[in-house]
Amino acid sequence: MKINNNYYHTIWVDKTDSKKIQIIDQRSLPFEFKIKDLRTIKETYIAIKDMWVRGAPLIGVTAAYGIYLGLLSIENSKNLDQKIKELGEYLESSRPTAINLKYAIDLVLGKIQSSDSLEEKINIAFDTANQLKATEIENCRLIGVNGFPLIEKISKAKKGAVVNILTHCNAGWLACIDHGTATAPIYFAHEKGVKIHVWVDETRPRNQGARLTAFELEQQGVPHTVIADNTGGLLMQKGMVDLVIVGSDRTSVNGDVANKIGTYLKALAAHDNSIPFYVALPLSTIDWDTDDGINEIPIEQRDENEVKYVEGWHNDQMTKVRIMPEKSPVVNYAFDVTPAKYVTALITENGVCKANKTNIERLKI
Ligand code: MRU
Repeated sequence: MKINNNYYHTIWVDKTDSKKIQIIDQRSLPFEFKIKDLRTIKETYIAIKDMWVRGAPLIGVTAAYGIYLGLLSIENSKNLDQKIKELGEYLESSRPTAINLKYAIDLVLGKIQSSDSLEEKINIAFDTANQLKATEIENCRLIGVNGFPLIEKISKAKKGAVVNILTHCNAGWLACIDHGTATAPIYFAHEKGVKIHVWVDETRPRNQGARLTAFELEQQGVPHTVIADNTGGLLMQKGMVDLVIVGSDRTSVNGDVANKIGTYLKALAAHDNSIPFYVALPLSTIDWDTDDGINEIPIEQRDENEVKYVEGWHNDQMTKVRIMPEKSPVVNYAFDVTPAKYVTALITENGVCKANKTNIERLKI
């Protein structure tokens, strides 16, 4: 997608040095556009943990390149299997909730098993990471194609009047490689000339909605309005929201959806107001081993300072301001789980389906 009219992906291999992976540093958006280099698995680990990159599909692709970078640093083939296993475990410990991380690591580790030579394993890991990146781009494009009719139908029912879509956090192209998940049908509808407007939840404490989703939509020219997190319920009661589309970090086989903290409350409000609540995700976000998302999906807890301080742009630099008593205790859960019963449907690259085990398992085929 575009930033200042130039096309970017969120991650790429440097054109002249294939041992250098480059990313857009999301910590400084929307205020500054910075590109960072990743040359080691440790830098990759930090980039994921400290959220230079974030969002489930992008975390996955970054991890795939991270394994490649880790293999590059192995000096000899002594205890190779053990060294490789440790690379995977190390990267997997960077963030706990987004299953795309494990998906991507398992994918690369699985593929490199086909060779005994370190050099070949490096080549296979590089190819696999590149392929995963391409596949996730195509998956997101297809999510847009498959989700578009849901918006189009509402537009037709409203006789072409503006369709109001509410989204939470950033499930946009910055959370993926291109297109986004929740934003893919939105961008598709916008391109097709369907009149839309997006309500963007600010998404405390890190404000991914206000900082990243608003930035993306503004850059692509999509009409939008940022709202405080607690505003969605009122808008729904007043008939100002036609549908909700969010992303997911992990969806269990029974259809429970882990996504950014606050998603569950929006689903409850949507249910109470009979507003469709859609979740857009690639199949790499489905945890095929988990049948009960509410009880089994691990919920990341992050640093208390993310709640205690607000970060913003002041006097041409990033500034942090404390917004509460220094000594008050804080807890910072980063995700919640929306029960399947509140999800109208899942939008995936393989089609739109009900959020239940029978339908989700059919997506695999
Ligand atoms: O903590 P983050 O910013 O990585 O959380 C991101 C989200 O919750 C997104 O909604 C999710 O990853 C969907 S990705 C398209």
